[in-house]
Amino acid sequence: MSRAFPDYYQFGHPTRIVAGRGMIEGAGFEFMKEGATRPLVVTDAGLRATGLVEKAEAGIAGGGLEVAGVFDDVPQDSSTATVEACAAAAKETGADSFLALGGGSVIDTAKTATIVFTHGGSLLDYEGLYTLPRGNEGMGAPAPVAPLACIPTTAGTGSEVSFGAVIRDPEQQIKVMIGDFPLFPRLAILDPESTATLPAHIAAATGMDAMTHAIEGFTSNEGSPHGEAFALHALRMMRDNLHVAVEDPSNEDARGNMLIAASQAIVPGAGATVALGAVHSMSHAAGARYGVPHGVANAINLPHVIRWNCAGGPEIADRYREIAGLLGAESGGSDEEVGDSLAAWVASLTGSMGLPRRLSEAGVPEAGIPDLVEGAMGDGCSLTNARELEPEDFEELYKAAL
Ligand SMILES: [Fe+2]
Repeated sequence: MSRAFPDYYQFGHPTRIVAGRGMIEGAGFEFMKEGATRPLVVTDAGLRATGLVEKAEAGIAGGGLEVAGVFDDVPQDSSTATVEACAAAAKETGADSFLALGGGSVIDTAKTATIVFTHGGSLLDYEGLYTLPRGNEGMGAPAPVAPLACIPTTAGTGSEVSFGAVIRDPEQQIKVMIGDFPLFPRLAILDPESTATLPAHIAAATGMDAMTHAIEGFTSNEGSPHGEAFALHALRMMRDNLHVAVEDPSNEDARGNMLIAASQAIVPGAGATVALGAVHSMSHAAGARYGVPHGVANAINLPHVIRWNCAGGPEIADRYREIAGLLGAESGGSDEEVGDSLAAWVASLTGSMGLPRRLSEAGVPEAGIPDLVEGAMGDGCSLTNARELEPEDFEELYKAAL
């Protein structure tokens, strides 16, 4: 069902995607076209052991570029200090660009390091949306940052094609969001080889993150028709490939298709920011306070928010009805029934992939709920949720998910 003609939205997809088997070998050839000559490879220690870093380095050198160095100090949940250390490493090694090889944490580290590397200062100086230096007294074109290429090693965040990043600020115990046009990576390389050694539970969790992006994006009160096209096709590809990629990691088609689906699932909303919702607000708070991995938290919270949103009236429920039909869940019946059937479909998928089903299983105590509610209320994602939330709504949702 189409929405009314919108009052406003913008849509941009400036990241060039190169998808195919063996594309890591062509990393240098492709990145040179984006102006890079001496990239710093940003990755994590776990990936170092898989041989992928060496492959990326060979790919860079094969294209005639020089690897400035390898920064592999990115933790699972990157922080402002890591970003600043990464930018400093780029300066020290004489790099002129960044190549991120990793999951969301690695990509967001490299993405935000380009800001500090190019413009100086500390990362928190740039917190928020559209905060990068601009010409014409702040009204003109934003100044470009150093080129960034991404090779995602999880099919999840979609950060390789988005202009936003989420970084943990350990002092305030919150996740800081930064988004602006120059942060769209110049290049994303989608090669199934990059997820070949991904453990099944991480493939499952990151896949559920991608599914949450598509569902929240499609149902958002700030969705756009362009974004909806991406979301629906992403969901079709996830329906056919997520479970297969987790069950049978040798299936290169399923893994490659999940990389494509995840990059389509980051749905731009009205302001070209990513349109997300209450699931992400709940998960950001649970991640910042209890270290619940982002995809795991989303997988747990998603069914509860689906049910709650569907109770918000037929206009909202019909959007979930469309998703239910596409995914093969029961899409008939009342608004409540469609919420129940889609929530059950999601929970069953999550359970079949071995992910925890409750926040308490992921380390969240009941006593932590008031604090989580405060965190979720302060998180911007719920502003674009299909239905407006009050603190007591988040409380009810956390209790249901506990
Ligand atoms: Fe996410």
